Amino acid sequence: MHFRTTDSTDYVEDVSPGSGALPPRAWYASSDARSLSLNGRWRFRLSETAGAEDDSFASEGFDAGGWAEVAVPGHWVLQGDGAFGSPIYTNHLYPFPVDPPRVPTRNPTGDHLRVFDLPEDWPALSEGGAVLRFDGVESCARVWLNGTDIGEFKGSRLPHEFAVGHLLKPAGNVLAVRVHQWSAGSYLEDQDQWWLPGIFRDVTLLHRPAGSVLDFFVHASYDHVTGEGTLRVDSDVDGRVTVPALDIDVATGEPVTVPVEPWTAETPRLYDGILATEGERVPLRIGFRTVVVEDGLIKVNGRAILFKGVNRHEWHPEKGRALDPETMREDVLLMKRHNINAVRTSHYPPHPAFLDLCDEYGLWVVDECDLETHGFTEQAWRDNPVDDDRWTPALLDRAARMVERDKNHPSVVMWSLGNEAGTGRGLTAMAEWIHGRDGSRLVHYEGDWDCRDTDVYSRMYADHAEVERIGQGLDGGTHKRRGLPFIQCEYGHAMGNGPGGIADYQRLFEAYDRLQGGFIWEWIDHGIKHPELGYAYGGDFGEELHDGNFVCDGLVFPDRTPSPGLAEYKKVIEPVRIEGEGAAGTVRVTNAYDFADLSALAFEWAYDIDGETVGAGPLPVPALAPGESAEVKLPEPPAHGGVGERQWTVRALLADETPWGPKEHVVAWAQLLVAERPSASVAASGGPVPGQRLVTLGPAAFDARTGELRTIGAVDVTGLRLDVWRAPTDNDDGASWQDGTRYGELWRKYGLHRMQHRLDAVEPGDDALTVRTRVAPAAWELGLATVYRWTSDGTRLKLTVSVTPEGDWTVPLPRLGIRFGLPRADRVRWFGGGPGEAYPDTRSASMLGRWHSSVDELQTPYVRPQENGARADVRWAELGGLRIEGEPEFWFSARRWTNEQLDAARHLTDLRSGDTVWVNLDHGQHGIGSQSCGPGPLPQYFLKAEPAEFSFVFSPIG
Ligand code: GAL
Repeated sequence: MHFRTTDSTDYVEDVSPGSGALPPRAWYASSDARSLSLNGRWRFRLSETAGAEDDSFASEGFDAGGWAEVAVPGHWVLQGDGAFGSPIYTNHLYPFPVDPPRVPTRNPTGDHLRVFDLPEDWPALSEGGAVLRFDGVESCARVWLNGTDIGEFKGSRLPHEFAVGHLLKPAGNVLAVRVHQWSAGSYLEDQDQWWLPGIFRDVTLLHRPAGSVLDFFVHASYDHVTGEGTLRVDSDVDGRVTVPALDIDVATGEPVTVPVEPWTAETPRLYDGILATEGERVPLRIGFRTVVVEDGLIKVNGRAILFKGVNRHEWHPEKGRALDPETMREDVLLMKRHNINAVRTSHYPPHPAFLDLCDEYGLWVVDECDLETHGFTEQAWRDNPVDDDRWTPALLDRAARMVERDKNHPSVVMWSLGNEAGTGRGLTAMAEWIHGRDGSRLVHYEGDWDCRDTDVYSRMYADHAEVERIGQGLDGGTHKRRGLPFIQCEYGHAMGNGPGGIADYQRLFEAYDRLQGGFIWEWIDHGIKHPELGYAYGGDFGEELHDGNFVCDGLVFPDRTPSPGLAEYKKVIEPVRIEGEGAAGTVRVTNAYDFADLSALAFEWAYDIDGETVGAGPLPVPALAPGESAEVKLPEPPAHGGVGERQWTVRALLADETPWGPKEHVVAWAQLLVAERPSASVAASGGPVPGQRLVTLGPAAFDARTGELRTIGAVDVTGLRLDVWRAPTDNDDGASWQDGTRYGELWRKYGLHRMQHRLDAVEPGDDALTVRTRVAPAAWELGLATVYRWTSDGTRLKLTVSVTPEGDWTVPLPRLGIRFGLPRADRVRWFGGGPGEAYPDTRSASMLGRWHSSVDELQTPYVRPQENGARADVRWAELGGLRIEGEPEFWFSARRWTNEQLDAARHLTDLRSGDTVWVNLDHGQHGIGSQSCGPGPLPQYFLKAEPAEFSFVFSPIG
């Protein structure tokens, strides 16, 4: 036994990628070579500094009986109930002094220890070798097996393998891993996410029989002209490749061309094959496809594609980035069910099993390297490692570990050099290496606006106007860039309520060929489950520096419940367009897939009167080819009396169960108006009857002095008045670095959250009670002259609100409507948009119909509480013993707390239900936009302070 006492920790701050590891290679699960998972409970000891403990723990016979335990894979800061430190969240700031490659003396270091026996049927140690594989360790590890130091490595989300056959024993093997939270590698891993040290992916021992596979590269292209695929499997160890379904049986290195069905994200045809060498059989899953940039467009198998993508970080609210296979599958299924066709693996290669799922279910993948140096922006990018040759070996090592690991996945169509790392020679070196190693895929990097190193022009958060200019080719740029296709690798910042404006982006993407779609930022909120706070975000662990809830900006909540943003995105990117005029009796159906025809879908019509379906049936639609449209005749509308609002609802459903969705899963839909709703008229019969303290009018009673509404029938109503305030959304607040106006801040400056209501007159007239007021903030001349005019036909009560702005209004209003409290309300029924929330620029998925919900279910649980839950286009709503009709339609919301309480809450657990349900009936809402990290709402979604008039009719119901 060799046991070296090497207590030096110099490697931690060394810019080199490490030493001792094997060269990177393809990741696969062998058919017949044995493997042993070393996941499970490991002994664990935490020290404050890298060198606090010597390495005697790695020697055989060391007694770790007194140590704690952690789960591997896992992050120690998420285990041990705080005993092992806590997570830190920063967006781009390094949570340590920037002095590369030095790291703080206080460097949490976790010693991990695991003793294992080889299974009884493990091949004799003389037969072949063995490899120890780490799939992910943050951020730097040093490894000993049976007392021998076998090496150290950095590159947290990349695999590292060590040859260990000569060190193994049948029983009592001691595997010791020392993990440092901070290392030189941390400078390359400044992604916007929690800093989470630990062995967070699998640890596996692989038997390597003599003559087994080392590395191999499956080249499988598709010629769309001939319909043939060409397969060539290059292997470091010679062998044969068989693909039974294609009658292929060739030597490695030998190309073979046969007719095949191609692989695409829409039609993920995989062929099972085997690579057999003398010592091993490796299963292959081959997808034939060819990716090129041609005529300035990204083409797969000869056709331009449109990315309808998301940025996916690996996240689990309890396990952090240690994802189990079921969670990965859940992500893929959720994406497929929401019409998403692409994933950017922001900002590091995911667990390799995720890419298997992308191959299998069909998603285009932009595989991104584990590289970000964003914090250097604070010093004008001085000393940026990507522009310093000393770091280039580490960068090339990262590029190689990604490409070699993932090169056999048909789903990967682009390699991304990393994220937000500025520009520099190191990136160029990576791009050159990747182009040389794999000419069959494109190279992406957003930071390179001149496209010196890349094959596509990529940007993040460009606003609509700029995207349109790019689409038109009017954006200039380098000569090379002008010839390249464009994608938005990040847009539609899904922080809190939003993102708004994505339908407007999609219209542009579909209008201009050069625009090949984009990737919403981002898939999931990285909230951490917390006993008191519900979900924790930045600052909740007492971090010295943090970026608050900027870490919660996903289309799904931390527990993967879809947010309204995901429903919106699904509708916006639906692969079938259904359009037309309802009264014309036909619909135009367009296949918006890039490859699939419509044969997997069944269409259905429904005819609705006042939101109620009075007839429905199948709608025959031809199996249109991609891009084709057809005019489809609708049936005769069902005979039905009455005068209500009429519309068609046409749906495209899965005709049969698919691997990702059940039969009848809705893929696309549209509603076509046939006849508008008749307006609700209330003929005033009789005027207000003044009493001593109350004025009565029809079913209602008012305070005679103030004109305030008190009751409608038996229902007590409190505090009915004009309301313009909403708890600012993350997008209202905007990000501090944004150039545009940040309305959350401006609204507060102008006091829209503390409007005063001055009573000017209470005028009981012949047929109406009129209450005149002025609603205005202290300190400003701005105001809203507001008149409430009440009439009744004896049983119903009508309120008409007239608002006239006074002064120089330069800010839009958050909302404009009325609010009031009801003492008892739980169930809500309404006819209008639903089932989920909608705002002016997030209303695509709002479907007109009859809906019901409890008040609690109306709330959208954004991790940081903010305005939410409005239902659009509401014709009428019933709750708390009242029916309310709107003229015109209104935005409806109801909650068990006030907007002010919602505004003050930091976490959902701060919201406490009171006795009153607060109802908002809004004539207008300001748009949502994406300004938490992007453009604000487009001008057409502004709620301008303008003269407005709107009415509601209230009737008591049984
Ligand atoms: C981008 C960055 C992402 C994330 C996002 C804001 O600039 O690439 O990692 O920080 O902004 O949420």
